[in-house]
Amino acid sequence: MLTASGLRSGYGALPVLHGVDIAVGEGEVVSVLGRNGAGKTTLLRTLSGALAAQSGQISVGGLDVTRRPAFQRARAGIAYVPQGRGIFGMLTVEENLEVGTRAAVGSDTTDIRQRVFQYFPILKERSGQRAGTFSGGQQQMLAIARALCGQPKILLLDEPAEGIQPSIVHEIGTLVRRLADEQGLAVLLVEQNLDLVMSASSRCLVMDKGRIVHAIQPEDLKDEVLLKQFLAL
Ligand SMILES: Nc1ncnc2c1ncn2[C@@H]1O[C@H](COP(=O)(O)OP(=O)(O)OP(=O)(O)O)[C@@H](O)[C@H]1O
Ligand SMILES: [Mg+2]
Repeated sequence: MLTASGLRSGYGALPVLHGVDIAVGEGEVVSVLGRNGAGKTTLLRTLSGALAAQSGQISVGGLDVTRRPAFQRARAGIAYVPQGRGIFGMLTVEENLEVGTRAAVGSDTTDIRQRVFQYFPILKERSGQRAGTFSGGQQQMLAIARALCGQPKILLLDEPAEGIQPSIVHEIGTLVRRLADEQGLAVLLVEQNLDLVMSASSRCLVMDKGRIVHAIQPEDLKDEVLLKQFLAL
């Protein structure tokens, strides 16, 4: 569904990604782990089009989007939920979701929202509430729901568990897994919370200094020796 090869990008004169190869298939949840500053967010920003690739290639469902701007990548099926969520606090739940449907060209937006609500009963109950009054976990749910309103093929999630209480982390993990299993959604999950990674992932990649350095199985994360070896935690 999503493939990237030889991806390089950075900020001004600072190179961050040094040739990243990654592929996420339909219904697959691939997690990216790695230390602070490893380049995880930079990878997601480069895939979404928030940051231009200096070289390499990105394609979605067979379509080369490397040189396309972010809004065209969204239409091609890439949805990005940034670190820190980026929802509109002054808008209601319903209004936030309405913004999310803009990437879904030519579809019935009411219908899309109803389908997304099936996965998020709380958002349906509170559709008129201002998003800024939600708890952190609820805001994260809303950010994911809003991304889904664009009817993406691939969802890029940057640290959805950050600053969220354990019960909601678990709920998010279950939800991501269901979306992959039931909707065939491809998910690239950047996450440091190992419970979330283990509950949602099909497989995991370890990133260090702008490169993918290991491919591991979610079960490997239970093994402290392997953890130390792979993540130097
Ligand atoms: N806007 C920016 N301008 C300049 N340098 C940046 C910018 N954003 C990130 N960097 C640098 O790029 C490198 C990779 O940062 P990135 O945010 O991708 O790491 P990360 O793996 O997401 O880390 P974290 O786990 O802390 O979120 C770091 O050295 C960081 O300082
Ligand atoms: Mg980051």
